[in-house]
Amino acid sequence: MSPTRPILREILAKSTRYLTEKNVDSPRLSAELVIAHALGLNRLDLFLDLDKPLSESELARIRPILARRGTGEPMAYILGRREFYGLDFHVTPEVLIPRPDTELGVELVLKLFDPGQTFCFADVGTGSGALCAILLKLFPQARAVATDISFGALNVATGNLRRHGVDQRCVRTRGDLLRHVKGRSLDLIVANLPYIGEKEAESLSKEVVGFEPHLALFGGLEGDELFPPLLWDAQEVLVNGGVVLLEVGTNQAKNLCDRIAGMSPRWTDIAIHRDLAGHERYAQARLRW
Ligand SMILES: C[S@@+](CC[C@H](N)C(=O)[O-])C[C@H]1O[C@@H](n2cnc3c(N)ncnc32)[C@H](O)[C@@H]1O
Repeated sequence: MSPTRPILREILAKSTRYLTEKNVDSPRLSAELVIAHALGLNRLDLFLDLDKPLSESELARIRPILARRGTGEPMAYILGRREFYGLDFHVTPEVLIPRPDTELGVELVLKLFDPGQTFCFADVGTGSGALCAILLKLFPQARAVATDISFGALNVATGNLRRHGVDQRCVRTRGDLLRHVKGRSLDLIVANLPYIGEKEAESLSKEVVGFEPHLALFGGLEGDELFPPLLWDAQEVLVNGGVVLLEVGTNQAKNLCDRIAGMSPRWTDIAIHRDLAGHERYAQARLRW
C-alpha cells in the first residue's frame, strides 16, 4: 500500500510553524506565498484546493524555497518581483525592494504637473526604476534621467523601464548624485536616497539589513548625509521654478527643510509632506532665479 500523501492544508500549517520557529516576518502569509510560488498557483487557487494531496515532486519544489524564506530572505527576492503603484517590477538583491511609502512621492508629483504636461525630471538613486517608470507611465509627455551609483541597480532599472515601455523616454546614467548631469534642464528632481543612519543598523530587521543592499539603505552615520550634496547639485541643474522632492526618514524633514532655507534664499515654497499615518515622508522645495 502506498503511504498517504499529505494534503495542502497540512503542508501549509507545517510550513507556517517552521517559519514561525525561524522568526520570519508574517509566517502564515509567507508560507502561502512560498507554496503558491512553488506549485505555480496564485494565493486564491491555494485556498480553493486545500484538500489536494501533494506529490513527492511538489513537496520537493516547496522545500528549498521554504528553506530560503526560513533564512529571512525577503519574499520579493524569492519571487523576483514586487508590485509598486499597481505595476509589477523585477527585483534582485542589487536593488531595494520598492516600499509603499514611496507611492506618496507619485501622489505629490501628480499635484505638481498635469498628466499631459511636457517636463523633464531626474530620479536620483533610481534602484529598481519603479518610481521613474510609474512617473513616465502617468506623464506620457515627460522625459527622465534615471541615475544610480550602482551598475547592478541601473541594469535592473533598465529592464523594468523596458518592460513597461517607457525606456525610450529615459536616459540611464551611473554616477554620484547629479554631479555628472550637465546643463540646466530639469523641472523636477525626485529622490529616494538612502537615509537610514549606520548607527541604527542594529535596530533594523534582519530581513532588511541582512539582504537588502547597504548602498541603498545607509546614508552615513546619521542617515542624512546625501541630502546637502544633492541640493548643491540641484542648484546647478534645476530650471527656474524647478522642484526637488526628497523622501526622508523619521524626524529628518524639519532639519532638512531648515538646511535648505539656510543654503540660499533662492529656495522657496519649502514644505513637509506627511503620509496617511501622519509620518513626515517628503521634503519639497522650489528653486527661483
Ligand atoms: C533607498 S534606495 C531607493 C531605490 C528606489 N528609488 C526606490 O524608491 O525603490 C536608494 C538608491 O540610491 C542609490 N544611491 C546610493 N548612494 C548614491 C549616490 N551617491 N548617488 C546616486 N545613487 C545613490 C542606491 O544604489 C539605491 O539604488
